[in-house]
Amino acid sequence: MTVELQHPMKADATPQETARGRFVSGMRSLILNDLAGDMGEAYEKRAAPKFRKANGRDPETSREAHEALRGDPAFNIYSAMRVQAQKMVWASVADSVERESERLAAEAAKVADVAGGAALNPELDVPKNVHAIDVHLMPGSYTRGADSLEAGAVYDRGLAVFSMGLMGANLDDIGLSMAQYIKLRFPDFAPERILDTGCTIGHNTLPWKQAYPAAEVIAIDAAPGPLAYGSARAKMQGQDVLFQQMCADDLAYEDESFDVVWSSMFLHELSKKQRAKCFEEAYRVLKPGGLVVHMELPPNDQMSAFDGFYLDWDSYYNNEPYYKGYRDEIPANLTARAGFASDDYFDFVVPSISIYGEDAVREAAAGDRAEAVGQETTGRLAEGVMWYGFGAFKK
Ligand SMILES: C[S@@+](CC[C@H](N)C(=O)[O-])C[C@H]1O[C@@H](n2cnc3c(N)ncnc32)[C@H](O)[C@@H]1O
Repeated sequence: MTVELQHPMKADATPQETARGRFVSGMRSLILNDLAGDMGEAYEKRAAPKFRKANGRDPETSREAHEALRGDPAFNIYSAMRVQAQKMVWASVADSVERESERLAAEAAKVADVAGGAALNPELDVPKNVHAIDVHLMPGSYTRGADSLEAGAVYDRGLAVFSMGLMGANLDDIGLSMAQYIKLRFPDFAPERILDTGCTIGHNTLPWKQAYPAAEVIAIDAAPGPLAYGSARAKMQGQDVLFQQMCADDLAYEDESFDVVWSSMFLHELSKKQRAKCFEEAYRVLKPGGLVVHMELPPNDQMSAFDGFYLDWDSYYNNEPYYKGYRDEIPANLTARAGFASDDYFDFVVPSISIYGEDAVREAAAGDRAEAVGQETTGRLAEGVMWYGFGAFKK
């Protein structure tokens, strides 16, 4: 199912374009549920036994699971279909964005003076990981259309097609689930200043403003266009969030000036060096008692070889060069290397609030680690998705 975005900034689609989007979402759902199931079965019945015969043991890592599956017909059809469907996601929304560009610019101009806004920095040296390749096969990557609304409009409508209804009507399910989890798990924590890093169009920033309305919320990204779009999108939803063009690994903020540094689906798009620097910067700008918290894909060391490879697939076939390197990291080491005490580290799994409801999030927040990483549900965009997160408070 494709969601119909529920905010006024979206590029409107003709009935044909809507049908195209529905078709692509439906196809992705078949691939990510049915074909993925077939591939899992092929792994158990054919690929793993073949590997066992050749090596005298089971595949032990994601890399070995990949090796075992290569050439298997179920893997081939899954991969070929998924790559084509990914290209179709972006193709299915391109016409509407192009047709709507002038109207969107006019709509954004109408809210130019509303609180919030986007502070772009034309002097910023936009890092290569943002523009040099078509990240997740998205044509033009995050800098498509420079500082126009194009990249943001494509990303917004594209993600609605891509997510098959699993990320909520305004694509904010991750933020809603995570912010609510933090609020319920740490009821005395009352952040006054919150920073979202790598926010793209701010879809998972806005839930933090909703969870902590009195807080000042700032969202940064290295790419200008998505910020321009995200800012108008936030204003039209009545959310006062400031968007700033900046690198998360080189923050222009003072030491000890934030209570929360948050990101979602961000760390896996950074090189190892950038990632380490982001944690150092988060540590620096957090006040004592502040919280760094990230939603991300669950790490390989908490997954079986096959399920680990299932997520690493994007690194090989979806133009996500840093994905596997990120998933091979141990999240607790990322916070520890930046200075966070290891006894202040925690990780958790949160049920999607749109699918399972607020009571399920409350239940998860009541346990220390209520849910182990579910191999087929955590971080997998498929039926029953749950989100993985980790964080640490600064002493
Ligand atoms: C996958 S998107 C994140 C999506 C979003 N946070 C969400 O919740 O779905 C990754 C974003 O990180 C941004 N980015 C990559 N490297 C960055 C850096 N060093 N500093 C700031 N933003 C960066 C990209 O421009 C892109 O918008």
